Amino acid sequence: MHVRGLPARCSMNQATAVVIPRDLYHALHRARFVAALTGAGISAESGVATFRDAQTGLWARFDPRELATPGAFARNPKRVWDWYAWRRERVAAVEPNAGHRALVELERRVSEFLLITQNVDGLHQRAGSRKLVELHGNIARVKCSREGTIIEHWSAEEDEVPRCANCGAFLRPDVVWFEEMLPEHALVAAEDAARRCDVLLVIGTSAEVYPAAGLPMLTHRRGALVVEINPNETPLSSRVDYVLRGASGVVLPQLVSAPWTL
Ligand code: OAD
Repeated sequence: MHVRGLPARCSMNQATAVVIPRDLYHALHRARFVAALTGAGISAESGVATFRDAQTGLWARFDPRELATPGAFARNPKRVWDWYAWRRERVAAVEPNAGHRALVELERRVSEFLLITQNVDGLHQRAGSRKLVELHGNIARVKCSREGTIIEHWSAEEDEVPRCANCGAFLRPDVVWFEEMLPEHALVAAEDAARRCDVLLVIGTSAEVYPAAGLPMLTHRRGALVVEINPNETPLSSRVDYVLRGASGVVLPQLVSAPWTL
């Protein structure tokens, strides 16, 4: 995973409905295969912090080099473990929002669908999405830092990082850190969807982190439709077919709840 740049962005929460062009409704309703790429912004209205929003973003308050790299874990596993444990608790305390639920409804309505998420919070699954791939892992899961085995149950003393019962190595969150590769099966499925879909919705992502940020261009190059849903401008905004400038918890229900006409 690598990043295009780290500009701070100003975020505004637009709770008002946006104007959705009729053409877009028609294209969506005609589409055989719809894919959606989501980022931290879709969970913002649930109360989960994004990464790059100025002031409120996690990377405005914490240094990713000290928390989200293999080197950071090697230097200070306890600090990294505790930070993810804190985030895991925060995520467990919130609920999916109207944006997550609208994507569940969209999955039900179209004949082929894939939700590609960069989020590790599991809120899409809790809302009811089933056809999805997680590009950056899931914070609820833990794996052995040496063998990569997923560990279902672990226990540890308060002041220690738990260890793998098999090999004794530290356990770590099953998320993708900077400098690490994405899970291959997830990336292959995401690229295949981006290449084959008729419409790609790009929701709540700053489009700064690759390879996820490259997926919309796979769709665009084929002449299929790319739609950005984001209250703020991103590097993608000038290269997509439609930009819906609003909060996903407002815009997605608007987009999906309209009568499905062909
Ligand atoms: P970012 O924090 O980079 O971007 C969040 C985006 O959500 C911004 O473009 C905001 O404008 C937008 N946004 C904010 N509120 C919104 C709302 N209510 N509705 C819709 N959009 C809203 O998050 P990501 O693009 O997801 O990696 O970041 C990509 C990756 O970088 C993350 O997966 C994470 C991080 O390092 C890992 O944790 C592995």
